[in-house]
Amino acid sequence: MNRKKFIKTGMLSAFAVSAFGFVSKKGDEFEGDCETTNDILGPFYRPDAPVRYDLTEGKKGSVVELKGQVYGSDCTTPLKNALVEIWQCDTEGRYDNESKAFQLRARWFTDAEGKYAFKTVLPGKYLNGRLYRPAHIHFRVTAPGSKELISQIYFEGDPHIDEDPWASKKEAQHRILPISLEDTKGNLAVNFDIYLREA
Ligand SMILES: [Fe+2]
Repeated sequence: MNRKKFIKTGMLSAFAVSAFGFVSKKGDEFEGDCETTNDILGPFYRPDAPVRYDLTEGKKGSVVELKGQVYGSDCTTPLKNALVEIWQCDTEGRYDNESKAFQLRARWFTDAEGKYAFKTVLPGKYLNGRLYRPAHIHFRVTAPGSKELISQIYFEGDPHIDEDPWASKKEAQHRILPISLEDTKGNLAVNFDIYLREA
């Protein structure tokens, strides 16, 4: 695993809100691993989903903007043209595994600042054996020179996280995200910054 060193305290505060797995202090230097951790692919990935921002057409549920920036392995350089793919179930816990509409599935390419965004709905839940998986959104992120990331995000306060074999892992803890009020209109947002490893 790559280990990054941060000389200045100011650098640390710039990243304190991001997806660090680990930060420690050695003398005057902070050291941390910023790479976003992997999660299981699951059985429902489909390649070639449409490139689109808005996934909400005809969908029930709470609309949320899911957004963030993709960075390279130095933890600071935004990656443009990184491919961000997401897929999720609907509020009834169903994935669209067949239709040409690719419902609740999309791709997006990051801009010059590494930014991506999707307008979607909060996912429901489905059973894994006798237990519900916590609500989650699947990610696959690829960029030239970086290792493919396959991951999932979860949401703070979800009572099904503790009993889920994947969401309860230590490495998932920085992927359990707050759903925040974005503006004065009651719009919801989830921010997920992504740090890729070097290939
Ligand atoms: Fe899933």
